[in-house]
Amino acid sequence: MSSGDVEPSNATWHDVCAVGELDAEFPLGVDIEGQRVGVFKVGEAVHALEDICPHAYALLSQGYQDNGQIECPLHGALFEIASGKSLNDIGQRDLSCHRVKLEHGRVFIQLTPV
Ligand code: FES
Repeated sequence: MSSGDVEPSNATWHDVCAVGELDAEFPLGVDIEGQRVGVFKVGEAVHALEDICPHAYALLSQGYQDNGQIECPLHGALFEIASGKSLNDIGQRDLSCHRVKLEHGRVFIQLTPV
């Protein structure tokens, strides 16, 4: 979450997991209001991205996380976790990022409107 963001008045923060449940090599896939969201730990930071690969249909949270990047398990689309940026042609577009805050050892996610 960048400090310059203006918080929408109807923003809902969803409590999705404990920070301690996250693993830097194995992302967590969660369902928030019917949306699949991938939760990624990179260093001490936590990021939330849309979880369905734009190329076809695979869950990126079941992919291979390394060096701040996530690789789709099906055909190898590669994305930068911190920004959602597509790093090769396979992914076709950048991923949507959701806002994250950490409070009292818990991870809260606010969905980006689609
Ligand atoms: S479904 Fe992700 S690269 Fe094809």
